[in-house]
Amino acid sequence: MSQTPTRADFDQYMVPNYAPQTAIPVRGEGSRLWDQEGKEYIDFAGGIAVNALGHCHPVLVDALTEQANKLWHLANVYTNEPALKLAQALVERTFADKVFLCSSGGEANEAALKLARRWAYNEHGEHKDKIISFRQSFHGRTFFTVSVGGQPKYSQGFGPIPGGILHAEFNDLEAVRELMGDDTCAVMVEPMQGEGGIVPATQEFLEGLRALCDEHQALLIFDEVQTGVGRSGSLYAYMEYGVTPDVLTSAKSLGGGFPVGAMLTTDAIAPAMAIGTHGSTYGGNALASAVALAAVEYIDTPEVLEGVKHRHDLFREHLEAINRQYGVFKEIRGMGMLMGAQMSEEYEGRAKEILPLAIEEGLMALIAGPNVLRMAPSLVIPEADIREGMARLERAVARLVAGQ
Ligand SMILES: Cc1ncc(COP(=O)(O)O)c(C=O)c1O
Repeated sequence: MSQTPTRADFDQYMVPNYAPQTAIPVRGEGSRLWDQEGKEYIDFAGGIAVNALGHCHPVLVDALTEQANKLWHLANVYTNEPALKLAQALVERTFADKVFLCSSGGEANEAALKLARRWAYNEHGEHKDKIISFRQSFHGRTFFTVSVGGQPKYSQGFGPIPGGILHAEFNDLEAVRELMGDDTCAVMVEPMQGEGGIVPATQEFLEGLRALCDEHQALLIFDEVQTGVGRSGSLYAYMEYGVTPDVLTSAKSLGGGFPVGAMLTTDAIAPAMAIGTHGSTYGGNALASAVALAAVEYIDTPEVLEGVKHRHDLFREHLEAINRQYGVFKEIRGMGMLMGAQMSEEYEGRAKEILPLAIEEGLMALIAGPNVLRMAPSLVIPEADIREGMARLERAVARLVAGQ
C-alpha cells in the first residue's frame, strides 16, 4: 500500500469484526485529536477508558522513549527492572502482595479465573469449581472470559461453552445467595459495570458479596479493567467502596495507551499459580512495564485523583444542563471519569445515533449498550476542553432532537 491509507482499506484488508468511523485520526495531544484532513476532535472516548493521561502525555512519552533506548523485551526466562518496579508499585498501593503481568484486560481476567479454579482445586478439591458472575457483565473476549461475561451474544456460535459458570442479576444479593454453595470457587464482578451500561454496584451488594464469599470460602474477584487506575477518583474503585477483593484485574488506564494488564492477589492465594501453571510471552514486557509504572506513579497522587472528582462534577453539571434543555436523558450516572447518560424513554435505544453527529461536530464519545451515551476521557482533561466538548455535544444532541 503506497498511497495514504483510507477507510476503504479497512474493508479491503481487515477482518470485518469492527465498524470504525470514517475519519482516521493521525495525531493526538492531550484531549485533542486531528484526522487526515486536519479536522480537530475533542476526545471524550479516551480509547475506551484507556488514554488516562490523554494522548502523548510527556511523562509517558519520556518513560517510553527512555526504555525504548535501553531494553524492550526478554520474555519470562529473565526478569527485568521495569516489571519488578511496576509490581512493587502496585503491591505498595493496594491490598495485594503479588502481581501477574500480562498485556490486556481479557488476559488479566483469564489469569484470575484460572487462578481461582486452581486455588480451589488445590485447597478444597475438584468439586469446588463454580464461578458466579453477572448478567450484562463484560470481562473480555477470550473464550473463558466471554463465557463468564453476562452477555450471551459474545459466547454463542463458538461451540461448547466451558461448564461451571452461573449468572445472577447484578446488584441482587439474594440471587447470588441462592446460587452460592460450598462448590462456589469464585464470584467475579465489576464494581461498576462498564460495557453493561455504566451501572455502579451498590454498597450493600459489594459488602454482601464479600460476606458471602467469606462464608463459602470462595474468592471475590473484582474486574477493575475499566474502573481502575484513577478512573473512579481513587486508584481502584474498591477503595471508594471500602470492600477488598481477593483478586483484582487491571488493564486499560494502567498503560495509558500501551497494552498492559495485571492481576493482583494475596500471598495466601498466589501460590496456586505455581511454576508452569500459567504464562504469557509478553507479560511483564520491559517497555510496557516502564510506561505502566510511569502512569501509576503519575496518577496515584492527590492532585490527579482529586482532579478526577472535580472533573466528574463538571461533566455532570454540563450533562444536566443539556438535559434540561433537550430532555434526552433519563439518568446521568457513573464515577469519576467514567460516566454514562441513559437515554430517556422518548429516545430509548438511540444512544448510538449521537456518535456520528458528535463526530461531525468534532467530538469523540462512546456508547455502553444501545441506551447509554458513555464518556471515558483523560483523567487530566483540561477544563477548557470539557467546556468546548460539551458545547459540541449539545449541538449533536440538538440535531438528534431536531431529526437532522
Ligand atoms: C470490565 C472489563 N473487563 C475486561 C475487558 C477486556 O479488556 P481487553 O479488551 O483489554 O481484553 C474490558 C474491555 O472493555 C472491560 O471493560
